[in-house]
Amino acid sequence: METTDWKYAAAPESTDHIKLKNRYDLFINGEFVKPNSKKYFATINPATEEKLADVADANEKDVDLAVNAAKNAYDKVWKKMPAKERAKYIFRIARLMQERAREFSVIETMNGGKPIRESRDIDVPLAANHFFYYAGWADKLDYAFPNLSTGKAGKKPESLGVAGQIIPWNFPLLMAAWKIAPALATGNTVVLKPAETTPLTALKLAELIQESGLPDGVVNIITGFGKTGAALVNHPKVSKVAFTGSTDVGKLIQKSLAGTNKKITLELGGKAANIVFDDAPIDQAVEGIVNGIFFNQGHVCCAGSRLFVQENVADIVIAKLKQRLETLIVGNPLDKNTDIGAINSKEQLDKINSYIKIGIDEGAEIYQSKCSVPTKGFFCKPTLFLHTSQSHRIVQEEIFGPVLAIQTFRTIEEVIEKANNIPYGLSAGVWTDKGSKIFNLTTKLRAGVVWANTYNKFDPASPFGGYKESGFGREGGLHGLMPYLNL
Ligand code: NAI
Ligand code: MG
Repeated sequence: METTDWKYAAAPESTDHIKLKNRYDLFINGEFVKPNSKKYFATINPATEEKLADVADANEKDVDLAVNAAKNAYDKVWKKMPAKERAKYIFRIARLMQERAREFSVIETMNGGKPIRESRDIDVPLAANHFFYYAGWADKLDYAFPNLSTGKAGKKPESLGVAGQIIPWNFPLLMAAWKIAPALATGNTVVLKPAETTPLTALKLAELIQESGLPDGVVNIITGFGKTGAALVNHPKVSKVAFTGSTDVGKLIQKSLAGTNKKITLELGGKAANIVFDDAPIDQAVEGIVNGIFFNQGHVCCAGSRLFVQENVADIVIAKLKQRLETLIVGNPLDKNTDIGAINSKEQLDKINSYIKIGIDEGAEIYQSKCSVPTKGFFCKPTLFLHTSQSHRIVQEEIFGPVLAIQTFRTIEEVIEKANNIPYGLSAGVWTDKGSKIFNLTTKLRAGVVWANTYNKFDPASPFGGYKESGFGREGGLHGLMPYLNL
């Protein structure tokens, strides 16, 4: 079976008029420059395994050039610019992104593997909204924070300097927006490194930034692997590090910054509990479970990857969930009917498959959708594990794929204990008819975000971030500006 033989290829989005260069250089000081390393690497479409473009692999010298460009732009231009002027640039970026939403969506889907419906309806509009939202904040920060001892208007908050920002592959453009928009609004300049498997929308964003007229060097975008990220984190002229990615790398970064004066925020892994009580609206909850774990192939730090169902409704919930699984369409991410697209990389697919094997070996009962998946490209069937327990690795560890571990519970105390008994604490979901239960759980669940009777709702005004090994610092809202300011 070839990639063209998509079972449900009823409405594939056209890739005509999508302009990609064969080769992308580094975006430093307002222009695309060849890497000192002279090295490039291929970036592919994970749904077809076809090469999309070659991308520069920045070395330490390249990182140094980018950081110096950002420092220069900070000292000479951006730090001195009145906030209302900075706001205009950020608004312009937001508007340009809206105008090019289709192009960004198609490229995001081609490079990342996520369903076009999601890139088009969620990733790209939300990314533009982050720029709009933070553009609005830029000129409202001066004197916004009263001096606590006198009660009078405080001084203007100060920016920090150069922010080194490292992002993952699961929401490439959206994470770029989460990082860049608050940094610019607060008067900092940026060097951003996208993930090695999904650099293309960040590079498109570089083109857009160039067009927006943003002063040279205010945003620099450099591509590469972990080594490039490490060089950026450790560069002495970087004042602030913002990282989203694996808990392991987050810990490494934290260690490497010990003893420096750099500010740091980390947004790391998760293993969210999605909790369904017997008084929940069951059909709505089933949709919430499906969205919680299968959105973006489960490549979501806040994915509802642990389901807790109250024992007396477990049979009905699981039966409906199995039924719903059979209706999910796995396949061509460019097809508007697709629910589950491609796994982002061969490496990630191998990781997911190894966890599926672990789950079987641990004695959990597996249920997979009977759907067929394309043989070319990286795909994984939606997978449930029943009869799991707290000690199972598939319950404790982040899989980052379309794999749900299901447990049952009897009492509210039991489920709170189990939900919290995990190294992570990023998010949770609660499904119940009772407001009192919701309030009770939001105070007792050790998670940065708790959704009630919904899941995966995001808004630029709402802060997001973790407890425990899920990291620290908040992104979004007024809270998201604080890590970029000295008050
Ligand atoms: P990763 O943490 O290695 O990669 C994330 C970013 O960090 C990429 O841009 C990468 O180039 C960069 N990076 C890697 N090593 C670095 C270092 N030493 N210093 C600075 N930057 C570095 O994540 P990876 O390997 O892509 O995925 C592994 C697992 O991590 C996934 O299976 C998933 O469980 C988890 N993950 C969690 C994410 C989240 O949103 N919380 C996002 C991506 C991955
Ligand atoms: Mg890694």
